Amino acid sequence: MSFERRDGRLYAEDVPLEDLAARFGTPLYVYSRAAIESAWQAYAAAFAEREHLICYAVKANGNLAVLATLARLGSGFDIVSQGELERVLAAGGDPARTVFSGVGKGEAEMARALEVGILAFNVESEGELHRLDAVARRLGQRAPVSLRVNPDVDAETHPYISTGLRENKFGIDIARAEAVYREAVTLPGIRVTGVDFHIGSQLTRIAPLAEALERTLGLVDRLAAAGIPLAHIDVGGGLGIRYRDEDPPAPAALAEALAPALAGRPQRLLLEPGRALVGDAGVLLTRVEYLKHDHRDFAIVDAGMNDLLRPALYDAWQAIEPVRERRGRSRCYDVVGPVCESADFLGRGRELAIAPGDVLAVRSAGAYGFVMSSQYNARRRAAEVLVDGGRAELVRARESWEDLWRGERIPG
Ligand code: LLP
Repeated sequence: MSFERRDGRLYAEDVPLEDLAARFGTPLYVYSRAAIESAWQAYAAAFAEREHLICYAVKANGNLAVLATLARLGSGFDIVSQGELERVLAAGGDPARTVFSGVGKGEAEMARALEVGILAFNVESEGELHRLDAVARRLGQRAPVSLRVNPDVDAETHPYISTGLRENKFGIDIARAEAVYREAVTLPGIRVTGVDFHIGSQLTRIAPLAEALERTLGLVDRLAAAGIPLAHIDVGGGLGIRYRDEDPPAPAALAEALAPALAGRPQRLLLEPGRALVGDAGVLLTRVEYLKHDHRDFAIVDAGMNDLLRPALYDAWQAIEPVRERRGRSRCYDVVGPVCESADFLGRGRELAIAPGDVLAVRSAGAYGFVMSSQYNARRRAAEVLVDGGRAELVRARESWEDLWRGERIPG
């Protein structure tokens, strides 16, 4: 474990979190390099027996230091925008190991991805296929394409992060996919290379993934029979982590469950994990400003929904712990932020022994934390720190006041 308690104090690797709060201020995101590396290694080890590529989903945490850590391990990347592509390049990531997902790719984004030579576009509609064909031809290229199919399986997760049902906007209905492939191979700007699905996030059961794979392999076989062989199969991301009492499968269990269906197939396997690689590798530190005892007990802290949106958006539960234990009476607190919204909470009904000035750690904040933050209420975005053993480095400075209005102007 990279965030452990010793003598009542919570550490990131060998650095007390309390010291980081004092040195860098709060709210503060803290990531553990060792945790990121060991999560990635666990994935790589699980799939070592077959040719594979881990394409880390940049959307989970796009900090350059995080991306560089993964790039050094040989990771690939899954991006959903040109901005994420530019981040990967800036961090030293390899475009030839990068796949481009997302339902709304713009022409300029396609052109840039072709220019730098990405591994594949995960194409999500026929409209996108035709646009990509045109852009590639204009550039005298053939765009490598895998169609993202929608396998119509229930991922059994929160509806906002479920993506593999027919009614979701993602992918091409698997029933129509063969026809789209048949057309794709006739387009001069397109080179068909693979197939892709992603059914949802924070998955705690493997069965829906295995079902999606079965359906997709049926398609792969029909395509092979039609003379359209594929070079890779991309099973997306989605493995969950334990926020509270979930029991998500380990990467090894996923590998084991998918192995029989994949046995003997020549395709390279692509994976797009995000949360499973970085979720547990980060915490959000926040300081208690006030305790307010009214109809309920409120702990008002200096991080809000603008810093960590998951509780407000999905009613997500993330553990909240003092970084230094204190003796004394505990109470059941709603831990709320300073933002003027009733949804501005980090956790509700939490038993805590705390006093104003104490620092709290919100656990499992390495994924979908900082990346979903905003400046709402004119709040500067938090700083980010990466810990490596006994060293802590600022990897993103806290925003300045001027950052709040950068690019704005008052008409003369
Ligand atoms: N691939 C694609 C095409 C995706 O859309 C996603 C996530 C991933 C991979 C990575 O999924 P992961 O391994 O991280 O589950 N903001 C939400 C999660 C949204 C996930 C969106 N897509 C949350 O905070 O729970």
